[in-house]
Amino acid sequence: MNNDHKLGLPIEYQEKPEYFDAHNMNESTEAKNAFIEKLLKAQHVKTVLDMTCGTGSQVFYLAKRGYEVIGSDFSPALLEQARKKAAAEGLDLTFIDGDMRTLKVGQFDAVITIFSAIGHLTKPDFEKALQNIRANLKDGGVYIFDIFNLQAITDEMIADFAMDIESVVNGAKIRNVQHSELDREKGLLTSHDHYTILKDGCEPEIQTNRFSLQIYTAQQLRVMLEQNGFEIIHHYDIEGNDFVAEKSLNILTVARKQRGQTPFLLLRF
Ligand SMILES: C[S@@+](CC[C@H](N)C(=O)[O-])C[C@H]1O[C@@H](n2cnc3c(N)ncnc32)[C@H](O)[C@@H]1O
Repeated sequence: MNNDHKLGLPIEYQEKPEYFDAHNMNESTEAKNAFIEKLLKAQHVKTVLDMTCGTGSQVFYLAKRGYEVIGSDFSPALLEQARKKAAAEGLDLTFIDGDMRTLKVGQFDAVITIFSAIGHLTKPDFEKALQNIRANLKDGGVYIFDIFNLQAITDEMIADFAMDIESVVNGAKIRNVQHSELDREKGLLTSHDHYTILKDGCEPEIQTNRFSLQIYTAQQLRVMLEQNGFEIIHHYDIEGNDFVAEKSLNILTVARKQRGQTPFLLLRF
């Protein structure tokens, strides 16, 4: 993981992988993974590269359902957690350390980056990632990803994102108080986190963190995808309903790699 994250990152990606994992698996994750699997099946996908696999939520789900799947991520701490879980379950899974903007693994039927992962990239870096995702896809392969919908997100929703949660992870009690704010013009959704960590016999440890997600309207995504050699097959919301621009909180996009050189490259050379 290099130091090139202009938007900041959640603390748990680097320092608290068990905490990330404890909050990452719930009923909605299972439903989301099931819907992604349904979309992959509809596209006759057999091989998948998950370029932002984290602790492996989608990798485990898909591998157990017969897909040939490789996970990659730029967080060594989250990858280590994924490898530990695979070993504990006796599963022979491959997790590779790499950045979605540059990593080349092979040519897959599908690439996925799920759970707002592209939000960690600036707009120019997302374009770089799109070019690299193309390189990891067969001609006609599909790219599936989700991100918050800038057009539908209201101030009330942002207030609703606020959390005050306590959990016990590896014997430590962690309280996370969080709130978000949105710069609508720039499309930057910023999360402010305050952690209090209590371990037996120790003084409370306080950590604060801030990171932003670059979010998009469906129209902005369309332009970026088309300029970088993809055509949109369909937009959904994260629950699998058809996407409604003014209403859906998330945009889950299924895009296809267009054959040949990208319009983006043709414009430049
Ligand atoms: C919210 S997590 C989602 C993880 C997983 N897909 C899931 O649903 O549990 C976003 C992931 O994106 C990864 N990520 C962010 N920027 C990345 C980049 N440039 N290259 C590779 N991984 C990246 C983070 O390390 C993190 O694991």
